[in-house]
Amino acid sequence: MASVGQCVWLPVDDDEAYALARVKAVQGDSVLLERVKPPRGAKKEETLLQKAFEALSVVSGSEGETCDLVQLEDVSFAAMLSALRARSQRDEIFTSVGPVLVVVNPYKPVACCSPDLIRKMGAGESMPPHTHSIVATAYRNLLDEGGAQSVLVSGESGAGKTESIKLCMTSLAQLSRSSGKITAAALESSLLLEAFGNAMTVRNHNSSRFGKWCALHFDANGQICSGLIRSYLLEQSRVVGAAVGERNYHVFYYMLAAASPEQRKRLRLDTQGTQADGESTGAAAYNYTSKGELEAPGIDDIAGWAGVSEQLRVIGYSEEDQLSIFALLAAVLALGNVEFDASEEGAEDERGHGQIAASSRSAAEIAADLLEIDAKQLEAKLTTRVLVPAGGRASMYTIPLTPDQCRDTRDAIARAVYTSLFDKLIADINTSLAGDTPKLTPKSKQPLKRSRAEPDDERFIGFLDIFGFENFAFNSYEQLCINFTNEKLQSHFMDALIRRQEEEWRREGVASTHVVFPDNAAQLELLDGATLCVFALLDEECAISGTDDGFVSKMHNAFANPNPSANATASASAVYSKPVRGRNRAAVDAATDKLRFTISHYAGDVEYTALHWLEKNRGGLHQDLPRLLASSRHSGLAAMFEARAASDESKRATVGAAYRQSLRALSATMSRTNQHYIRCIKPNEEQEPDSFNGVVVERQMRCTGLGAVVEIQRSGYPVSFTHGAFVRRYKVVAFDRPQLFESDDEREICVGLVKYLQELQKGSGGEADKGSWLDRMLAQVGLTKVFLRAEVYRQMEIPRQGVARRAAVCVQRLCRGVRVRASMRQLVRHQTAAAAVRAALKDKALPEAEAAILALKAVWEGYHVPEP
Ligand SMILES: Nc1ncnc2c1ncn2[C@@H]1O[C@H](COP(=O)(O)OP(=O)(O)OP(=O)(O)O)[C@@H](O)[C@H]1O
Ligand SMILES: [Mg+2]
Repeated sequence: MASVGQCVWLPVDDDEAYALARVKAVQGDSVLLERVKPPRGAKKEETLLQKAFEALSVVSGSEGETCDLVQLEDVSFAAMLSALRARSQRDEIFTSVGPVLVVVNPYKPVACCSPDLIRKMGAGESMPPHTHSIVATAYRNLLDEGGAQSVLVSGESGAGKTESIKLCMTSLAQLSRSSGKITAAALESSLLLEAFGNAMTVRNHNSSRFGKWCALHFDANGQICSGLIRSYLLEQSRVVGAAVGERNYHVFYYMLAAASPEQRKRLRLDTQGTQADGESTGAAAYNYTSKGELEAPGIDDIAGWAGVSEQLRVIGYSEEDQLSIFALLAAVLALGNVEFDASEEGAEDERGHGQIAASSRSAAEIAADLLEIDAKQLEAKLTTRVLVPAGGRASMYTIPLTPDQCRDTRDAIARAVYTSLFDKLIADINTSLAGDTPKLTPKSKQPLKRSRAEPDDERFIGFLDIFGFENFAFNSYEQLCINFTNEKLQSHFMDALIRRQEEEWRREGVASTHVVFPDNAAQLELLDGATLCVFALLDEECAISGTDDGFVSKMHNAFANPNPSANATASASAVYSKPVRGRNRAAVDAATDKLRFTISHYAGDVEYTALHWLEKNRGGLHQDLPRLLASSRHSGLAAMFEARAASDESKRATVGAAYRQSLRALSATMSRTNQHYIRCIKPNEEQEPDSFNGVVVERQMRCTGLGAVVEIQRSGYPVSFTHGAFVRRYKVVAFDRPQLFESDDEREICVGLVKYLQELQKGSGGEADKGSWLDRMLAQVGLTKVFLRAEVYRQMEIPRQGVARRAAVCVQRLCRGVRVRASMRQLVRHQTAAAAVRAALKDKALPEAEAAILALKAVWEGYHVPEP
């Protein structure tokens, strides 16, 4: 039941997302709420039905004061949002939500991230929320218990994941006092991967376009002795051109801006030119780099190039080795400048046979030269395709490609060369980080706790910097993989949260068997189930050379059919739906309308469009091409494609299957570790400091899985107080029951107080009339804390707020009385003094008049003294 004066968090449409509102009046079933300090133009009052009102979170007043949001009396999105806002306004960017560290990107240098401060933080046990404290805890656990640790960092693009991991690395190097070759290689390799794997996007000028797992291994002295890096899903489409307002990978611009004259000559960078004047040799001269922006704010291309050389040197590349890497980069750029037109031969075919345009013959020759493959062969593979029918290679034949198909082939080669180069760099970094210790991923599962003396390959801390949940207007295969990753990580996250919650209840002696926790098993079943799942259906369709259309129909049939197929589980079908055709499809044309399907992820519904998914799942590189690249005289390039050229195309794992496999391995590694969570949040879309948009933050709280914290708390007891805090809070309503507080046992007092609070609410028609709160486990009194369900907390607050209101009215009355009496006295003194002045002036008694004026002045001055 609402009561006048009660404060709640009201969801609003503007940037605040939730506003502080007070109950102004209650009439029958409707509650009139008045928004406190509404922004200009916003609605001041809102009327809600009691039922809707009861779903709102009560304002407890402690928001913004606590640095652990799970310690808030009522854990809700609104309260958490308000606390994050208050803290980030004070530049306190780190906040705990139970076991999770939330980092709100400040978009400006802040004192708490300065390396000096981090150096001074030490390794003490009780530290404020900070990346340093996460690392210190992980490092302490690692040394004390010898168990592997992981720090999982997630968040939207631009939220600050990579920067947070850099802070973690600074802390770790300092705490472990590590130095030397491996530590330097570990630190430098991150920067090297930034050059090759980061790019400017509209969301982040230095956006990591790949997921990264980096594990640092420690020796018995607690110093870094080896490392291992794995990458996930490098964004391939960017290699062949970036969207408006974005750039291709940084390293291309570094090279074009700062390669030395000798390098330019070797890499044949000065011989390019697509500009009309033919003179431009920078990023503007290449199709793959000229489509988007040429410069990225905050990224220094010249310094970046010097950094790349240095970082390659640290991981063991000689000058010559470096040039061979750069040659592949230059080859990709040259390939991008190869254009195609229709040959006369193919004129009778309305699409025409593609041939290399005369103006770009030199680009093709340069590309072949840099790739060290035969120019004629490159031309043949760019413009034709060999088809091998079921009968085998003996009956194969060659078909000409249309100009569009030639362009697709060219782009496929460019993407394959770049991604293979990226993989090679990671492999080489891993070699340089290998050290003397055994491999970091033991085949057998080992117990977490080990003695320090034991030889141990589980003594590592892994950092995962992974793309957050994505939901755009058009979601494709890449979004499915990203969101699948996030579902997997979310399930680890929920397990860890639930384990922690259950441990607390166990410690407190509180029953928990009646609590049903949320999970995302249905989504995982749908995406990655053992029998029938989205990825398996896609592989199946690829295997039979089916179509995107066929794949989607099979999914609809399996999961969206009122009688789902025998293999599809009901839970998987429950999170799958078939969108209504033709509705709200401004972004999608009629051809793709039928390719849509929706998955209800833990973070919200995402509608996918399966356009070109079969091709994407196959990897997009026709078997001819690996063979061509494997024939290169460039030994590095040939090695990259050897295995692929030799393997049977039809038996090769699809992109989805390989990715599922790598995620399973990651998941298994994570399960062996003690997990620590960092969730990064950006406070606004504009990448600006000192601006906090509630709507933007709330969306990310949901997408980063913080909703699970709220849900898990709500499935159990969202409100909890220590015994002392509970007694202090509700003592005011029981002043007339001193016997309740006579016991020496605080727990007993709390039990009595819970019962008394229920008594007070009896007859109000709420929860209090339905049987004992304690027996129904709506409230439980543990060893040190009282746990309350939200509905009980609401009822308990009514008498407390009533007392508080009466007390406030009483204090106001007293204050007003004091003020009125004081001003009355002043008035009387004024009139007396004024009368004395008048009398003295009438009698022309100047000394008396002067004294009376001074007295009057004193009274006036009294008037003007500011009131306390
Ligand atoms: N702790 C911080 N202090 C100051 N600025 C920061 C901090 N964290 C992030 N930033 C700013 O935000 C930008 C984006 O951060 P970062 O590159 O770490 O995001 P991200 O989450 O890794 O994004 P993406 O997924 O696109 O790689 C940084 O370039 C920096 O300007
Ligand atoms: Mg990043």
